[in-house]
Order: sequence, then structure tokens, then C-alpha cells
Amino acid sequence: MKTKAKFMLTHAISADPACEFAAEVRAGLTKIPQRELPSKYLYDEVGSALFEVISVLPEYGLTRADQRLLQRHAQEIVEQVPGPIAVAELGSGSAKKTRWILKALCRQQHTSYFPIEISRTALAMCERELGDIDAMSIVGFEREYLDGLLEVAARRRNGQQLLVLFLGSTIGNFDRPAAAKFLTEVRQILQPGDSLLLGTDLEKPIPQLLRAYDDPLGVTAGFNLNILARINRELEADFMLSDFRHIARYDEEARRVEMHLQSQRTQRVTIQRADLAIDLQEGETIWTESSHKYAPGEPFQVAQAAGFHCKAQWVDHEWPFAENLLIAE
Ligand code: AVI
Repeated sequence: MKTKAKFMLTHAISADPACEFAAEVRAGLTKIPQRELPSKYLYDEVGSALFEVISVLPEYGLTRADQRLLQRHAQEIVEQVPGPIAVAELGSGSAKKTRWILKALCRQQHTSYFPIEISRTALAMCERELGDIDAMSIVGFEREYLDGLLEVAARRRNGQQLLVLFLGSTIGNFDRPAAAKFLTEVRQILQPGDSLLLGTDLEKPIPQLLRAYDDPLGVTAGFNLNILARINRELEADFMLSDFRHIARYDEEARRVEMHLQSQRTQRVTIQRADLAIDLQEGETIWTESSHKYAPGEPFQVAQAAGFHCKAQWVDHEWPFAENLLIAE
């Protein structure tokens, strides 16, 4: 008999999210000389919807490359991770691309899927996207990645292996030392033999990257500016969006695209619920996101330093991108 996917949501029990948001906005916007905002706050309901649009823009090939690899190689990937398996996904987003892996697994066994997301909107999209897969149960965790993974690991049954998915090159949004530390922390939660499927966007010509992060339709600009609109909505701030310009630049030494919001005039902004007023100079920027690009061999070294070995790698050549299967040692 076929079993329909069941969905449950486990809510965060952490401190008041509005207080945490206010504290992080305050800390970032008072950083001198470079003010910044944590990129995780780009993803409220509007930001998550705009990211879905970015992922289908002709200039932004990253998501399609990730999807192509997972669609083409799902069977091969699951054959490399012998069951019984529980799947945890860090930052599932809408989970469109996860579908291929889950379907391949569910052909072999009943599968438990645990998406871990700080965005409730993304978890809701995930439920809509995957609700029709047979022989699968879904328990969504509205948590930070490592907190959620700890809970999933605590729920594993005897003899069950964990397959952790960290797709879409979200690792690229961490700076390199933070990425190395994060993978080490993931490894510490896992047991030997567990696996991590890690998606990494690869280096490519700079003009191509700049078009991907500053598209002519202005969707990425809207996605970036929405972080200020979100602060206005949730923290009673008075950012004038028309006084800021979206900028994408490439740092060749750090091998990353950076997104900034540049103040178009000297201005004062007040953020009431963060108890903060800042004076911005004309031309000054607020740094909102970094997307690091990897050399093809780099994930092998990073994995090894974190206590994994790289068992296999699949590369998309249309939009250079790699899916890396790492095994905990
Ligand atoms: C989610 N993350 C991997 C995307 C990236 O490419 O860094 C976010 C994004 N920012 C601008 N466009 C897409």
C-alpha cells in the first residue's frame, strides 16, 4: 500500500526573533568602516519569492545547474549512500531540486525527510512541493542549521545513516574560514559513514558573474533592497529605498561576488526598534551578501580539513557547478 507524505512543523523555541533581528541589525549597521547586514535576513516572504524569480533568470544559471546535476545523477548519488537513510536538508528553500534525490530514495525505502530552515515561508513552499511523494514523511524544523541538525541527529533510529544535503552553493554565502568551521561543526554532529552532499558554484568569467548578480530586469536589485524594506516593516525604520542603489562587485583576491547597497546621498536613518540612528555618507555602502566561488578541486581540500573524504564529484559544464559527495571519516 502507498503511504502519502506527512508534514509536521517543529517551531523554533529560541529567543524572541524580533529582538534577535534588531540586535543583529544594530551590530551590523554600526560596524565601521564597512557597515553590513547578515544575508540570512534577505529571506522573508518577499525575499524568498524574489529568490525564486532569480533562480529562473537567464543570467543566473546556478540553480538550473544544481537542478540538472541532481536530476541527471540522483540514482547514482543514492546508490553511493547505502540505507537505511534519513535525509536532513540545511536551508531547503522550496526543495524543488531535492525532489529528484528524495524520489530516487523513496523508490528503495520509506524515507524520513527533515528540512531545516529559518524561513517559515520556505518550509511552507517545501510542503507544497513535496507533499505528493509516496513513502515519505516530512518533519520541518524552523531552526538555524546546526540547531536543527542536532535535533535530527538525536531522532535517528539505531543503524540509520544520515544524508545531509547542503545544496545550491549556500556554503558560498559563508566566508572561507566560516565555511571551514561550519563543515567541521556539521562533521561533529555526524557519525562515521554519514554523508554530506555539498553543492558549490565554481569560478567563471567575471562579466558572467556580474550579470548573474546584477540582472537587467532588476530582480536581484529588488531582492537586495528588500532587506531595507524588511527593516522598515519589522523594526520601524525609515530607509528611503530610492536613496539606495544595488551594487554587485567581484573581489578577485577573495574570489567572491559581493552585493552592497550604496547610499546615494548623505542621510540619517532611524531604526526605532533597534534603538538606533545612523548617518550615512554619499557613496557609502552596506554590505549585504557574499557569494564565494570555488575551484573544482577546492571542495576536496575543505572536506578533508573538516573530517570528511570526497567520494564523488559531479560537475555541470554548461554553468560550472559541482555536487560533492562527502563521507564522514
Ligand atoms: C542562496 N545563494 C546561494 C544565492 C547566491 O548565489 O549566493 C543567493 C543570491 N544572491 C543573489 N542572487 C542569488
